[in-house]
Amino acid sequence: MKGFTAVLRQPEAIPASRLPAEVQRLPRPPALGRAIELAFLRWEKRRLAPTERFWRDFGFHIVSSTPQRLVARGAGSAPCIAIAEAGRNDRFIGPAFLMSADTDLHLFVDHMEARWLPGCRLPAGGRGVELCDPSGRSVWLLQGQRRVEPLPLREAVAPSTNTAQDRPRVNRTVRTPIEPARVVRLGHVVLQTVGFARMAEWYLRVLGLIPTDVQYLADGSPSLAFCRLDLGNQPADHHTLVIVGGIEEKVEHSAYEVLDLDALGQGQQVLRAGGHRHMWGIGRHLLGSQLFDYWSDPDGYEYEHYTDGDLFTADVETAYSPLEFGGIWAWGPDAPASMKPRKNLQTLLHVLKLVRRKAITAQRLNLMSAALDAPARPWL
Ligand SMILES: [Fe+2]
Repeated sequence: MKGFTAVLRQPEAIPASRLPAEVQRLPRPPALGRAIELAFLRWEKRRLAPTERFWRDFGFHIVSSTPQRLVARGAGSAPCIAIAEAGRNDRFIGPAFLMSADTDLHLFVDHMEARWLPGCRLPAGGRGVELCDPSGRSVWLLQGQRRVEPLPLREAVAPSTNTAQDRPRVNRTVRTPIEPARVVRLGHVVLQTVGFARMAEWYLRVLGLIPTDVQYLADGSPSLAFCRLDLGNQPADHHTLVIVGGIEEKVEHSAYEVLDLDALGQGQQVLRAGGHRHMWGIGRHLLGSQLFDYWSDPDGYEYEHYTDGDLFTADVETAYSPLEFGGIWAWGPDAPASMKPRKNLQTLLHVLKLVRRKAITAQRLNLMSAALDAPARPWL
């Protein structure tokens, strides 16, 4: 495509304080509350058994399994990272966030039409409210959930890794067990939306998030935001919530931290042996730096195993970079075509409808398409 050069490169990130005038800043609304953890994700499934099988092979620890409800945790101290309830559809219902003790949940009831959740719906006690994001997705804000005793994990391989500079492992081998990549915790969720500006504003305001990296289109308008939790001096993941401008309202993927690269690799073998659908990996991301491996659940929802992600304290300023499809990975296998909208009649009719409804402008669609179509690598 004209205007892009097919060479190996990594888009340059510019700190907000040195942003050129032609790039628009992502607005930072005053926060109503402060999220301190992405607690769990809620799903509705027509059949729970295939999801349970996938979750086990993916490395979730099943806490309870009944014909109505499946609850899973990781090896960390969170009592629950995923809930699937039996229903008429296969769908992502929404995320639940743990809010700081000084967040006033009444504010959301008084000003945002949130409703108090009955205690029986909370998997680990405490209290919470339910509200709807601009796309109508249910979002839970919780406080006072109990914690659980972490489950034992093997020792990480990294301290005994031999490099060209350090050789700590002598007269010993690397023999990690063949087992699912035991998920330690829920790391992040990525939401695609047609109304990027409104959705980003809503989540930043409700959760008090900090944009770590913002990517912008060729006209300088933000179109993707990697947001982290505001944990003050305590390091937070590079991103816990990602808002991506696109042509659908949907969950793009959810991501789960595993112990180390060997857990990721052995986990890949176990999932392959179980006949699950591999999507992409193993590679390293650029923004967030995680080593990643992507899988598909039985209903086509994307799940990511990751390890070795970046951590930032709250004082680090937002960085801006141009949005390019090639910028989602630093190295690894080529990103699959399934990560972009299909170029077919159905997509065309869908975007025409969006433009007619004035949900998005034709100009913005062209800019997004140009960013996705730029050659991601010289051989693509
Ligand atoms: Fe991810």
